[in-house]
Amino acid sequence: MRFLRLAAAALAVAATDARLFRIGIPATIRPGDVFNATVEQLAGIPLQYAMVFGIERYDQEASIFPRPGSLGPVVFHHVDLQATVGDGKVSGNTTMPGFRVPEGYEPGPAAIQAAVLQFAGPLNSPSVETWWWNVDVGDVTSEDLVWSSYADDTSRVCQIPFE
Ligand SMILES: *[C@@H]1O[C@H](CO)[C@@H](O)[C@H](O)[C@H]1NC(C)=O
Ligand SMILES: *[C@@H]1O[C@H](CO)[C@@H](O)[C@H](O)[C@H]1NC(C)=O
Repeated sequence: MRFLRLAAAALAVAATDARLFRIGIPATIRPGDVFNATVEQLAGIPLQYAMVFGIERYDQEASIFPRPGSLGPVVFHHVDLQATVGDGKVSGNTTMPGFRVPEGYEPGPAAIQAAVLQFAGPLNSPSVETWWWNVDVGDVTSEDLVWSSYADDTSRVCQIPFE
């Protein structure tokens, strides 16, 4: 009895929450600068909790290419999604503040990738969603943004297998 009541309460929370829909990151980023991501949300599930960001460069000569679905060797930011963009906001635009690519990061083209830990359904079954942005590491942090969207080529969902 007690467990059934808890599951119903969890569902009620998920139903009023928002999911990440589109995230914009500066197209050019200067290492050391603090910048924000612009976030567009939509009402819906799953309940999204933690988002972790990494960066990996492109270097044709050294044959280094970002691997889609991996954060890359430098993990540089994480976000508590419930505290930052959750909090009962059903939809709309907001920001994730406080991003900073480490000082001294090599200039040139790079990919930022992120992974989201999320839960859906009455049992809060977990899945991981990955996101991808092409950026340039350069001399200024630009005002123009590159966007990644839920459910297009820049985002993927992977259900945790269970046997
Ligand atoms: C980032 O967002 C904060 C509010 O969370 C704002 O005060 C700050 O000016 C923003 N920074 C930039 C570079 O837009
Ligand atoms: C968020 O901002 C974009 C422009 O940056 C706009 O096209 C979109 O309608 C906004 N979304 C909401 C839900 O306000």
